[in-house]
Amino acid sequence: MDYYYTNLAVALGLAGAASIPVAQTYLFKPKYHPGPTPLPILGNLHQIPRETPWKTYKEWSKAYGPCIHLEVAGKHVLILNEYKDAEELFSKRGPSNSERPHLVMASDLVGFGRGLALLPYDQDAREARKLIHLTVGTKALSSYTPLIENETLRYLRGLRDTPEAFLDHLKYSAGGIILKIAYGYDVEPKNDPLVFLANDALDKFSRTTLLGEFPVDIFPSMRYIPSWVPGIQFKKLAEEWSQLATQLFDRPFNYVKDQLKQGIPNDSFSSRQLENITEWNDNVIGSRAEVIKATAVSLYAGASDTTVSAMRSFFLAMTIYPEFQVMAQKEIDSVIGANRLPTINDRRDMPFCDRLVKEVLRWGVVGPLGIPHVSKVDDEYNGYFIPKGTIIVGNIWGMLHDEKQYPDPDLFNPDRFLDSDQPDPSLYVFGFGRRACPGSHLAHTSIFLSIAQTLALFTIKRARDEKGNEIIPEAEFVTGTISHPKPFQCNIVPREEMRLHLID
Ligand code: HEM
Repeated sequence: MDYYYTNLAVALGLAGAASIPVAQTYLFKPKYHPGPTPLPILGNLHQIPRETPWKTYKEWSKAYGPCIHLEVAGKHVLILNEYKDAEELFSKRGPSNSERPHLVMASDLVGFGRGLALLPYDQDAREARKLIHLTVGTKALSSYTPLIENETLRYLRGLRDTPEAFLDHLKYSAGGIILKIAYGYDVEPKNDPLVFLANDALDKFSRTTLLGEFPVDIFPSMRYIPSWVPGIQFKKLAEEWSQLATQLFDRPFNYVKDQLKQGIPNDSFSSRQLENITEWNDNVIGSRAEVIKATAVSLYAGASDTTVSAMRSFFLAMTIYPEFQVMAQKEIDSVIGANRLPTINDRRDMPFCDRLVKEVLRWGVVGPLGIPHVSKVDDEYNGYFIPKGTIIVGNIWGMLHDEKQYPDPDLFNPDRFLDSDQPDPSLYVFGFGRRACPGSHLAHTSIFLSIAQTLALFTIKRARDEKGNEIIPEAEFVTGTISHPKPFQCNIVPREEMRLHLID
């Protein structure tokens, strides 16, 4: 990430102007939570690693305790490594700690700012959450069961025909479900532009929202540096990525507007909302039409990459730990038999598969640091001061890899949940309090169905090298707001050819 260091060098030059107030805070320092010693001006920025920072935060918690205070160029950051603190600060003190940081790169320069995940906790955010809940909350979700089942069938047929392209089939199925729910859009049989647009845009979202990734978020005046100045790569990236963000917001929404204008039936979240209003001025920030458009994007973007990431971890886990695959298949065969596929309603009769889903979510954490919250009032916690404007990060990965809660946390072992002392990861994986993920029911439903149906029909085997030896992949994950396993090899083969008629 060379661009990071060149931009940082420029930032440090600019930081002189900001150094006086920062120096003052050093002179009159209240008692913050413990943490690594900061440098003047830069704070702890240089100690935040570029790769998997969640592991470092967990390591630091052994030395400093579960709540770690950092300073990043004068901004206060509090990292929470244990659930009890996240529960207290995010849920019980939710009214004070549910804002989001203002990210210059992601929000102002690229244009993701009107998506729910980056909105301050204002009227528009509350409205978007309500609308999403009405669309994919527990009650509403059952009406989408046939859609989810159909898209899962499409994915299974893809696995049968081109198993090596399993990632594309997963993306297609996730995209197919959410594009239909949000926009009434039927994905094309191959290379659908809207499926890949969301994946591409989410990759940029994931990079621009990671704490400390772009120095312009730490030194906002950097945004005024012209893009021709040598070393200012972030401006060029922002220009490129903003076109992607514009397309993400406008393209699928314009599709719905066009259909409605032409009188073509469209049954979707967007069409139902648009039919209730007369003015479709969705380019006016804060207008009803714009809030609808931004909420549709939050559904579309929120669902496109997250469940896919969980399913990638599932394939990786099955490749490394085949014994659990055998156990799941035994359960499927005894509960379901060979003449039909498991459905959502079978979940309660399939306790091992249920544990398998939990362990996939725990082991391959989709959002290792969640999305940061921000405090809006001065506060005190356990005798330490949390100033207004503190960025509070729940280290979800750290909570799910806490050896006190989950012995041998790096091992994949669904049976750990037979021990009732090991908590259900759903407590943490979907975030906290008023900003907790509103798509968790949809995520759970589609992940369970995809896993159970995949194992009903296929076995995931290890690939072999040229000498015929099995290749056991490493469990390595990429760094970003949304994480997923690094590329690995596996072989997906039908369990019995005769069962494949179930997906014809
Ligand atoms: C395995 C799947 C998923 C995981 C692990 C996950 C995880 C998360 C996490 C950790 C947050 C941040 C919560 C916080 O700030 O405390 C979040 C927010 C969010 N998620 Fe998910 N998510 C998943 C699937 C989905 C799906 C399917 C949707 C859409 C239907 C979705 C939409 C959103 C939205 C819109 C937000 C922002 C909420 C807000 O800022 O108020 N997510 N998710």
